[in-house]
Amino acid sequence: MKHFLTTADWSREVLQQLIDDARALKASPLQARLKNKTIALIFFNPSLRTRSSFDIGIYQLGGHAVVLEPGKGSWPIEFEMGVTMDADPEEHVREAARVLSRYCDLIAVRAFPKFVDWSVDRQDRVIRSFAEHATVPVINMETITHPCQELALMMALQERMGSVDGKKFVLTWTYHPKPLNTAVANSGLLIASKFGMDVTLLCPTPEYVLDERYMNHAREFTSAQGRSLTISHNIEEAYSGADVVYAKSWGALPYFGRFEEEQPGRDAYKHFIVDAQKMALTNNGLFSHCLPCRRNVKVTDEVIDSPNSLVIEEAENRLHVQKALMSHLLTT
Ligand code: CP
Repeated sequence: MKHFLTTADWSREVLQQLIDDARALKASPLQARLKNKTIALIFFNPSLRTRSSFDIGIYQLGGHAVVLEPGKGSWPIEFEMGVTMDADPEEHVREAARVLSRYCDLIAVRAFPKFVDWSVDRQDRVIRSFAEHATVPVINMETITHPCQELALMMALQERMGSVDGKKFVLTWTYHPKPLNTAVANSGLLIASKFGMDVTLLCPTPEYVLDERYMNHAREFTSAQGRSLTISHNIEEAYSGADVVYAKSWGALPYFGRFEEEQPGRDAYKHFIVDAQKMALTNNGLFSHCLPCRRNVKVTDEVIDSPNSLVIEEAENRLHVQKALMSHLLTT
């Protein structure tokens, strides 16, 4: 059975087929491809785009979604194996995943890191437990990567640029008052490198470089296609000639779980904001961000509202790519 947990183990060809189908669905949104099919959307964290686009997406294909929030409207779930369940969780993922598999044709999960110990969070245990015990395909709605966002971004880039091969993609860290998940940043590296872009990771210091798993994937994918992966701490050099600037904030992994120690250093990097002065160094570059986005903290109003901003197109494309993905998982 096929799950969609990370794009790292999906080929560029199949990912491109999903994007191509998403374009067909964008042109013709109402198709009864998934008539009477159902999806469980399990949210351990909040969402605006993901929740609404999956719910509306399956409806537009003739199916139905049920939204569950463990610990709120549904029971808290235990993920440790072999434990005596005498704490909060009322049921185990072994039952939850198998029961939902009897009701639903797909299960989708959003489970952010716990932000205590990265060596634990990087195992992606929640969604991998669902994938292990479910008997239907499982979709990642953002854990330590955000593969649906990747597809939406690549679709938006191709809509504006045509082929992205050989274009310069800059993933820039930006300031944010809180230490955020690295998922979208990891995903930016994965999709840009898989699709043959020259990738630059711009971040304030080596402490902000992403997990070696995603750096290694990006190195492997770029070199397989004769492209480059560059780590830069120099804003002018990184922006120079960029075709795409993709902004995201994340917490420095060496301080994971001890972010009060990162805070003083982080406060010195507010100048990583994406602004018109930096964008002027680019090759008339496109700007995007996964949203939600704090205006005038991560990016100025001028840039996010500019004609080169893709943020709304990328967000819209979440609907189309997820419909293509659900359709693919249930019909191929
Ligand atoms: N980009 C994204 O996943 O948005 P939400 O957190 O609102 O779902």
